[in-house]
Amino acid sequence: MKKFNTEYNINNVGESVKLYGWASKVRNLGGIIFIDLRDRSGLMQLVINPENKCYDIATTIKSEYVISVSGNINKRSSVNSNLATGEIEVVVDSIQILSKSREIPFEISDNTTALEDTRLKYRYLDLRRDSLKHNLEVRHKITMATRNYLDKLSFLEVETPVLCKSTPEGARDYLVPSRVNKGSFYALPQSPQLFKQLLMVGGIERYFQIAKCFRDEDLRADRQPEFTQIDVEMSFVDEEDVMNVAEGLVKDIFKSVKGIELESPFMRMKYDDAINKYGSDKPDLRFGMELNDITDILKNNESNLFKGVIDNNGIINAIVVKGLADSYSRKKLDSLTEFVKKYKAGGLAYIKISDEVTGSIVKLLSEEEINNLKSSLKLDNGDLVLIVMGSKKIVKTSLGALRIKIARDENLIDNSSYKVLWVTDFPSFEWSEEEGRFLSLHHPFTMPKDSDVDKLLTDKENCYSKAYDVVINGYEAGGGSIRIHDEAIQEKMFEALELTKEEVDDKFGFFVDALKYGTPPHGGFALGLDRMTMLLCNTDNIRDVIAFPKTASASDLMSNCPNSVSDKQLEELGISVNN
Ligand code: AMO
Repeated sequence: MKKFNTEYNINNVGESVKLYGWASKVRNLGGIIFIDLRDRSGLMQLVINPENKCYDIATTIKSEYVISVSGNINKRSSVNSNLATGEIEVVVDSIQILSKSREIPFEISDNTTALEDTRLKYRYLDLRRDSLKHNLEVRHKITMATRNYLDKLSFLEVETPVLCKSTPEGARDYLVPSRVNKGSFYALPQSPQLFKQLLMVGGIERYFQIAKCFRDEDLRADRQPEFTQIDVEMSFVDEEDVMNVAEGLVKDIFKSVKGIELESPFMRMKYDDAINKYGSDKPDLRFGMELNDITDILKNNESNLFKGVIDNNGIINAIVVKGLADSYSRKKLDSLTEFVKKYKAGGLAYIKISDEVTGSIVKLLSEEEINNLKSSLKLDNGDLVLIVMGSKKIVKTSLGALRIKIARDENLIDNSSYKVLWVTDFPSFEWSEEEGRFLSLHHPFTMPKDSDVDKLLTDKENCYSKAYDVVINGYEAGGGSIRIHDEAIQEKMFEALELTKEEVDDKFGFFVDALKYGTPPHGGFALGLDRMTMLLCNTDNIRDVIAFPKTASASDLMSNCPNSVSDKQLEELGISVNN
């Protein structure tokens, strides 16, 4: 097997070598030809002198030709400190062209200006760039660290099916038609959730899998339709046990992949506090700018604006942009208003603090109210206060998103740091306007807090579950829960979700049956492998950490998929397509 370019260094000077790779750059400098030979590890400078017998071949080599060369390692006269092999070069005495390349559609360089769509169409060329190779290397190291860490703790890696029964799990399923059973469908797993719990019923006790998951949902910069989880489940455990394993694993990954020692124990924050202070269940703690509830300060204000909100059980929240009031023109504030409107906020009010307090709602405020705002929000001259009012959900979501936007726009985020926390005590249910009933926030098998089991049917709004998410720099890097292993609690949960016995039997009867045959107390978690890789590669584009990703419209530009299939294939499946 060939050696990598970067396996050679100054200590190998004088040795004869055979190298293989791609001609990254060919330069003809007054007779002498220099070729930067690229392989997976990096570049090696090749020197071909005019008097050499292989010179004529060298003159025909173009960018991206695949070649092999033999020659001797020489010490370079001028060192290139940007290259791992920068102290040496190979003086070539024979060259073989192994394959030619057409002219490539974009330059293979980390500074490429090619559009992402072009790079995705020619992904195999894009993968030749250093940064993508580096990201795949990080991804590989994460899976290796995971396997080592969990193996040491006696977890078994077990594969679970990819062709499964469609069960309600939150997102839409990808369906696969069955030829043998016409009119019937498999679903691709949104996660191995039910299987990993069945492995616990099966006595496996400690399971993990680097599992492919499939979700047909609206895509975002950190979401792909197919993605990978580091999926874990354990028996005879409580919340602390599972969180300890997950925390240990995350720490080990950061340490072994990047040499980063994360502060531990990870900070913990209850879901309600995260929403109240940061407007998000995945708060980015690398900067402050918390949400402040100023409803109380304005509760006696007579203007219709505030009164209308407060009388309707709404709230008024503010964030403070320290010292930047002057850099927010009317136009900039208008664009922030448009931004919060995307999150259904009615508008964005503002106050600028200086010797004279100005802003869109100042004339509605009394001197006392302004003074109260100044002291409770600790305002100084130069501060900008941004205010949203309305229903709690809209206020928190829109101001939470605005907090992040401003931090990014104003470069308030320290990109070199990692802020990790556990978000705990998730509500068991969330109200669905669409369905007019409470749905599970996680899934129906999530164990409620011991103190809330009795409230499942009577006080759903105040039921909390034994669920936890690990959040890193504002990303949900993973999450999990303790599951229900008690039949009576499970039945109560189905009743709370207004699922009839028939619906339960139809949707996951096989699973509920299994839980009746001696189920150990169990729980687990799943880390998003793609997101962990994004965090360790400092990219906010999930496509940068996946070898062959899909676009935002869930298609693969390289192979042109999804695509239509032949009538014969459809006929075999008993499917007709309505266009
Ligand atoms: P959950 O749905 O929270 O939990 O998923 C776990 C983690 O997977 C990652 N993730 C995604 N990454 C990329 N693209 C997506 N579309 C995507 N969706 C989720 C996130 C997330 O935190 N079965 C449960 C886990 C459990 O309870 O044990 C589950 O799937 O990083």
